[in-house]
Amino acid sequence: MNHEQERAKERIALELEHSRRRSNGLTLDALNDEGLLAQHSKLMSPLVWDLAHIGNYEEQWLLRAAGGREALRPDIDHLYDAFENPRAERVTLPLLTPDEAADYNDRVRREVLDVLDKADIAPVVPRQREGVDGHRALLDAGFVFHMVIQHEHQHDETMLATHQLRKGEPVLLDGSGGVAALSPPAEAEVLVPAGPFTMGTTDDPWAYDNERPAHTVDLPAYWIDTRLVTNAEYLRFMADGGYQTRYWWTREGWEWRQRRNAVSPAFWIREGQDWSRRRFGRHEMVPPEEPVQHVSFHEAQAYARWAGKRLPTEAEWEKAARFDPATGRSTRYPWGDDEPGTRHANLGQRRLGPSPAGRHPDGASPLGVQQLIGDVWEWTSTTFDGYPGFRAFPYREYSEVFFDEGYKVLRGGSWATHPTAVRSTFRNWDHPIRRQIFSGFRCARDAESY
Ligand code: AVJ
Ligand code: FE
Repeated sequence: MNHEQERAKERIALELEHSRRRSNGLTLDALNDEGLLAQHSKLMSPLVWDLAHIGNYEEQWLLRAAGGREALRPDIDHLYDAFENPRAERVTLPLLTPDEAADYNDRVRREVLDVLDKADIAPVVPRQREGVDGHRALLDAGFVFHMVIQHEHQHDETMLATHQLRKGEPVLLDGSGGVAALSPPAEAEVLVPAGPFTMGTTDDPWAYDNERPAHTVDLPAYWIDTRLVTNAEYLRFMADGGYQTRYWWTREGWEWRQRRNAVSPAFWIREGQDWSRRRFGRHEMVPPEEPVQHVSFHEAQAYARWAGKRLPTEAEWEKAARFDPATGRSTRYPWGDDEPGTRHANLGQRRLGPSPAGRHPDGASPLGVQQLIGDVWEWTSTTFDGYPGFRAFPYREYSEVFFDEGYKVLRGGSWATHPTAVRSTFRNWDHPIRRQIFSGFRCARDAESY
């Protein structure tokens, strides 16, 4: 086996270990059996479901599909099928206990390391890609291993949302992330010049099917905010009667606002003139400089309209996050192609929340747009759909079944997103009413509107 493949396998083994340590930290190390088996919210699974689902997904894709091995526990597949079992019903299933889930995950992992050792993960030559069979395409440059690593981290982020919804004493450690460097003063918004850019990717070995293929998108010029909308700014919208003014909201948004009687972002508590919040079991005043978090698409849209702006489209977000006007090229991240470091972005649960707006100067885009990667997922105005030339791979249920169903695209990852699970092409999506996720936004506007 050549040196390059060996290095790639070492990286995969390391990332598999990291994701498992993180998953266990959010489950087995954090809560007792009662806390793991309980349903903390109708919106979420019991944590023990996520834990065994992670192992079951790994078994299906790495042991069976990639390794050609027999199922270890074919009897439990149906329990951990996300489509067969809606989140609200998972608590009623005969799930593995936390101890059983831990043993099962360990067994799967031991065999996976053996499969990895024997696998041929050489990249397929691009011009031969059309002709490769399913199995070869699965292993192409390590794709299926990357898919499983990202899947585990995605569930870790979901489990963090469950922790946020959970009542009771804090169990997660906070505050180890340090303080990110301050950016020099910047314009509030920048003009992204009109013209074509490359959206999506064809050859990124970590990219999901919905990020593919690379294609050219030609956009008119537009303005985009250099900063995420902060709590202080959002409070001005609230103080100006934003939640009481029908005009700022779409019809669907206003219906949601009325139904929920929403008057603030989720988890906020009114304290006379001020607002506090509950965050992972700790009670604290809302910090003004932090990007607003736990807002629905509808709240983001209403704020943007109140501010005389709008949400960026998905294409506008991606152009701002990877197009370098100096070279005309699209890069993997706003700062270029280097792997994300702590100086670039707040990712990977180093702290339990976003950095204040105006941090991470080394992560800014060439045009000076800040904090595109990490901190909070950013709502866009675009409904999730496939790119031109989309082909479902390796299974329709990752993304294709969600196309054109009214899900809104979110971009850039949050403080809870692992660096392997986000890049400037990465696409997330959710219902426009959801706000237990770590969602915020920035605004944009047409270039000719002033
Ligand atoms: C891409 C975050 C929308 O959590 O529903 C997890 C990821 N897919 N297991 C989700 C996913 C299968 C997915 N999102
Ligand atoms: Fe899953």
